[in-house]
Amino acid sequence: MLAEKHYRPLFHFAPAFGWLNDPNGLVYKDGEYHLFYQYYPGDSVWGPMHWGHAVSTDLLSWTHLPIALVPDELGMCFSGTAAVDKGDKSGLFGGKDGLLAYYTIAAEKLPDDVDFPQSQGLAYSADNGRHWTKYSGNPVIPNPGLQDFRDPKVFWHEPSQHWIMVVTLGQKVGIYRSADAKNWQFSSSFGEGHGAHDERAWECPDLFEIKVEGQSESRWILIVGVQREAYIAGSGTQYFVGRFDGEHFSNDNTPETVLWLDYGRDFYATQTWADIPQADGRRLALGWMSCWPYANHLPTQSWRSAMSIPHELTLKPTDDGLRIHHAFIRELKNTLADNHQLYGMSCAAPASLFDIEWTEALQIKLAVSLEDNSSLMLSPMQGTQLILTAQNNELVLQCLRQGAYGNEAYDQGFPHDYVIRLGVNRKLTLELLLDRCSVELLVDEGRYSITNLAFPEQGPEHTLRAELTTGAVVADAEWHLLTPGK
Ligand code: FRU
Repeated sequence: MLAEKHYRPLFHFAPAFGWLNDPNGLVYKDGEYHLFYQYYPGDSVWGPMHWGHAVSTDLLSWTHLPIALVPDELGMCFSGTAAVDKGDKSGLFGGKDGLLAYYTIAAEKLPDDVDFPQSQGLAYSADNGRHWTKYSGNPVIPNPGLQDFRDPKVFWHEPSQHWIMVVTLGQKVGIYRSADAKNWQFSSSFGEGHGAHDERAWECPDLFEIKVEGQSESRWILIVGVQREAYIAGSGTQYFVGRFDGEHFSNDNTPETVLWLDYGRDFYATQTWADIPQADGRRLALGWMSCWPYANHLPTQSWRSAMSIPHELTLKPTDDGLRIHHAFIRELKNTLADNHQLYGMSCAAPASLFDIEWTEALQIKLAVSLEDNSSLMLSPMQGTQLILTAQNNELVLQCLRQGAYGNEAYDQGFPHDYVIRLGVNRKLTLELLLDRCSVELLVDEGRYSITNLAFPEQGPEHTLRAELTTGAVVADAEWHLLTPGK
């Protein structure tokens, strides 16, 4: 393996030291994007959870700030969200705007007469997240008698003039409402018989409204984390497209429809930013770029785990119905692209298309078309290989991983290949983002997102080679070597 400094991402958020998991409290206020996150500063494996904190003006370069929430006598601070309280609806800010954060209080040691460790807590900040006060009436929602009651997402719902909370209720999502952000009533639950389940709880729900692209209608998207066995083992993120009336979520698709937000191994606990100004209007999402089966065993020591690149999500009509599409945030182009090269071409197989020499970070876009039985192979990307093959009117994407790292949990948790069937559309775009230890791929104008960690054994110089077989054509290729701070 390489020295760990070669694995520290150039433009993905990672802690300076210690352990990181889920993004928490993603909120925009007064020109700053806030990123809070599940953090254990005492070691580089999971431990008593704090909320770490960083801010950014471009979503790519982050300033680390002091820890926002620390465990107390009630318990640890598990995942949750933040929202701007516009006009002081909570009465906590003396008439001014402030920040509310909701987190799960997870008791470490329970007194003998308490069975269930998780409840919902509130903290508030009047100085843009620099100092936080935990609400004296915590928990704002006590445990309803469930082992898994966590990860509140809270937002203001204008039509019903209420705060809404969606929160894990075992293998379902609970919906609560509140007029004052402190007193909460249960409305309904969603999830039984819908989407993907395994024997563990659903986690980290998010609920937001989004416009259908090109139409005046909108839909509500419910995002839910699930430990999945059905698709590929590990932590997965699914979503539902539906409607929300302030108290109930209804699914537009059949209950058995399973929609994955990302098809790779390493995009979990996804949360979207709250309170993005209307003039911007984007729905921006961030995933934890790891996976529970091996997260504690990744080959770094002083710090562990990073976030995905932020994605812009849109909802577009497709032959299958309304589906989320992804784009890497446009800020990437403005701030990072250096040594920019552009290559317009039409190249038919059999050929080795190109070898790109790159160090540490690269973005590449390809427009390809594949006839039946032809394929495009991209390799080696930090020990990872992507093979796209047209077969029987389907496109099959294989992500192969090479190498064993000697840690059992890590090696077994990292399968060496898996297959994603992409449908019959054979002309498509591929967009790849390679940072020091990750390979992020968007296929077909962002219709499919595939996020994977990849720890090269050698480097930091790499060669990306593209090869075609007969029937495969690359119409365009464009790439940028990325340098942070540009
Ligand atoms: C998801 C999760 C959450 C929980 C947090 C604890 O990755 O398990 O459900 O709040 O991590 O760190």
